[in-house]
Amino acid sequence: MESALSLRAVTKRFGPITAVEDFSLEVVRGTIFALLGPNGAGKTTIIRILTTLLRPTSGTALVEGFDVQHEGKRVRRLIGVVPQENNLDRYLTARENLLLQARLHGMAPAESRRRIDELLELVGLVGRQHDFPDTFSGGMQRRLVVARALVHRPRVLFLDEPTTGLDPQSRRAVWEYIESLKDSMTIFLTTHYMDEADALCDRIVIMDHGRALVDGTAARLKERMAHAHVYELQFRANAERYEAMLGGFPFVRSLRRTGDTFRLCLAGEESLKPLMDAIGTDDIRKLCLLEPSLEDVFIELTGREVRE
Ligand SMILES: Nc1ncnc2c1ncn2[C@@H]1O[C@H](COP(=O)(O)OP(=O)(O)OP(=O)(O)O)[C@@H](O)[C@H]1O
Ligand SMILES: [Mg+2]
Repeated sequence: MESALSLRAVTKRFGPITAVEDFSLEVVRGTIFALLGPNGAGKTTIIRILTTLLRPTSGTALVEGFDVQHEGKRVRRLIGVVPQENNLDRYLTARENLLLQARLHGMAPAESRRRIDELLELVGLVGRQHDFPDTFSGGMQRRLVVARALVHRPRVLFLDEPTTGLDPQSRRAVWEYIESLKDSMTIFLTTHYMDEADALCDRIVIMDHGRALVDGTAARLKERMAHAHVYELQFRANAERYEAMLGGFPFVRSLRRTGDTFRLCLAGEESLKPLMDAIGTDDIRKLCLLEPSLEDVFIELTGREVRE
């Protein structure tokens, strides 16, 4: 079976920066694929190559079998794109933004009207359809961009962080919609919400520094961490002091803090005793063993350093 998307040894350089390096990938039709990675990993660059906005420095990219460099026009007809930054036309109302998209894709007026009504309903913007995007909240603009990407019923939908800035209700609404589309199209998304990738995607690639690190289902990736010992540790007091201590132990492989609660990944069960001996039990409110999450896998692979 032909893949919906394929990247073959794609490299993209911007002067001295290598944003994507020798990247190969095949995405099966009708699946939801997620590309994850820290800031600057190369995710948007890959989407821009697949959506014909950037030329690869070397390698080949195909969408539904069409070469993005030589058959760009055919590729653009088949795809819908939700870019990382909202790029609505601010001088057009919400409805006009959707109509413009329909016209660009040569849709008949009656069909465009029906389709646009349906999409406005879906993203909850019927009441605001005659307003300008500048008067919308960030979440409303995002939902409009999602609707616009779907007007012409694309065969492949690219979503670059579709739910960033959305409230939990809108995020779930977008998820439900993405799931419902799955049978009719291939979906390629990037996200920084690990729960989103876990819940939605058939397959996940985690990348960093332009290269793929792992590839598989969420369950498969979490199995990699089956050996890992992830604990939640909550303190009654002195969390600052404990943070410094925990960060200094060689057997603490990763550490995340939320208030007075830490999520830590230990090198093994045998690390628990030296840990407890070192920190004592005076200030501990709670200690429990957790199931590894996709975020644990992500941090394990990409490290704790914040990216520039
Ligand atoms: N037009 C450009 N000119 C120069 N460098 C660029 C350009 N676009 C991207 N880069 C560089 O390429 C690298 C990858 O960027 P990219 O936008 O693909 O990352 P990303 O994974 O989408 O990150 P984020 O999660 O922050 O959106 C970064 O180092 C970035 O600075
Ligand atoms: Mg990006």
